[in-house]
Formats: sequence, structure tokens, C-alpha cells
Amino acid sequence: MKLIKKLWLLVLLSMAPVMVSASTGVHLDKAPASLSDKASLQRGAQFFVANCLACHSAAYLRYNRLMDIGMSEEEIRKLLPEGSKLGSTMQAMMDSESAKMAFGAAPPDLSVIARSRGTDYLYTYLRSFYVDPTRPSGVNNVIFPLAAMPNILGPLQGDQELVVEKHEGGHEVQTLKLTTPGTMSTKEFDATVGDLVNFLDFMGEPAKLVRYTYGYIVIGFLFLLLLLTYALKKEFWKDVH
Ligand code: HEC
Repeated sequence: MKLIKKLWLLVLLSMAPVMVSASTGVHLDKAPASLSDKASLQRGAQFFVANCLACHSAAYLRYNRLMDIGMSEEEIRKLLPEGSKLGSTMQAMMDSESAKMAFGAAPPDLSVIARSRGTDYLYTYLRSFYVDPTRPSGVNNVIFPLAAMPNILGPLQGDQELVVEKHEGGHEVQTLKLTTPGTMSTKEFDATVGDLVNFLDFMGEPAKLVRYTYGYIVIGFLFLLLLLTYALKKEFWKDVH
């Protein structure tokens, strides 16, 4: 009985972080991420290098690690910014001090951002900028209010407006409405951000792909061991009964 109580406590404790994030009341869209989709990871990598390294670094990732997601040396070389080699880590084009002067906050290194924020947060954040003339950058963000980051994906997504509906009891519902379309349809844009977030997830833990494979091998081994142990037990007790 005591053991069962302890087990329950463990289960409850392991759910605690989920409950805390749920109580903040911000709705997060589910990221369509899938680490086994190499084509999506490659599109995400290309998009990341072309659009995010202007301000952010990913100092824990070397370009040649992109081979893990199936890119050839040739393809990686095409991505490389001037002055970087295959073995270089991903550095920001802009140094952190100048970026801080320009935007009012230093762009964080994005190497492990998917681990600290989660993929659903990133997927929602990058799609939740809306026009706000009171901000220096001209935009604000629903899930990261007063974010210093300009909406660099605005030309692709288009302009969004924040619509706030007041319901009975002071309950507010915030929705975003597309006012000016961008160069991509909403579907295309969501898929592009999905690929990008998928890549950010890979970047946070490149070894995850390898670990999945190990996981299957270990489970297979344990299963074999179980069969063997059972056969052994039968053999030992054969003469006792
Ligand atoms: C023009 C510079 C610039 C570019 C380009 C840029 N960012 Fe940012 N980003 C910033 C700044 C500045 C901040 C810091 C915001 C703050 O702390 O208010 C930031 C913050 C962030 C954050 C942190 C949010 C949080 O909750 O802490 C994420 C995630 C992010 N950027 C992702 C990206 C991605 C992905 C790209 C590429 C599509 C990108 N950024 C491109 C300037 C930039």
C-alpha cells in the first residue's frame, strides 16, 4: 500500500511542470515538428542560416553537424557565410553589443532555445507578431509582450492585427487577424515555421536522433534477456516440482 502511495506521488510530481505551464493561460499552437523528417530538417536549416544568423548565434552547433540530417558536404558549403568553414560554429553576423544598442535587448544564442522554451512556444511565438505603432520596432508579440525582436518574417507572413474581445466577467479573448497578406499563404508560412522549429529542436539536442536508435536497440536487448531469464528459471525449477 505504501509503495502505491509513493508511486502516485512520483507520477504527480512528474506532471508538475506541465501543470505550471498550463496555468499561465496562454494558448500555444502545437508545432508540427517531427525529428525523423530529414527533408523538413534540411529546409529548416537552410531557412535558419539565411534568416536568423543575422542577429542570433548558435554557438554550440558546427556546420558539419548538418551531415547528421542528411546534408552533403557540398550542400553545407553552399550555406556557409563568408569566412566560416565546415568545422566552424554558427556565429551571428552582428555582434551582441551592437545588436543590443540597435534593438534594446541582446538576441539570445539559439543553440538550446528549444529545450528551454519548448517547440510549441517557438512555433507560436514566431507566428504571433502583430502591428503595434507604439513599439520602436512597429510590432508586438502576443506570447512575448514587448519583445525587442523585429518581425523579420513579416514580409512572408503579412501584417497581423490584434483583436481583443471582452466577454462577460472580464474574460478577454485575443485573436490575430491577417490584414495584409505576405508573399506566402498562411498554410505555406505555417509549414515554413514548422520546418524551422523542427530544426531548432534538432539543434537543441543533435544526439537525440542517435539516442532514438539506441533506445530501440536497448529495448530489444532487454526483451531478449527477459526471454533468456525466463527459460533459465524454468530450467532451474524443473527438478524441484
Ligand atoms: C534583426 C535581428 C533579429 C533577427 C534577424 C532574428 N531575431 Fe530573434 N531576437 C532578436 C532580439 C533582439 C531578441 C531579444 C528579444 C527580447 O529579449 O526582448 C530576439 C529573441 C528571440 C527569441 C527568444 C524568445 C524568448 O522567449 O526568449 C527567439 C526564440 C528568437 N529570437 C528566434 C529567432 C528566429 C528563429 C529567427 C530567424 C527566423 C530570429 N529570431 C531572427 C533579434 C532578431
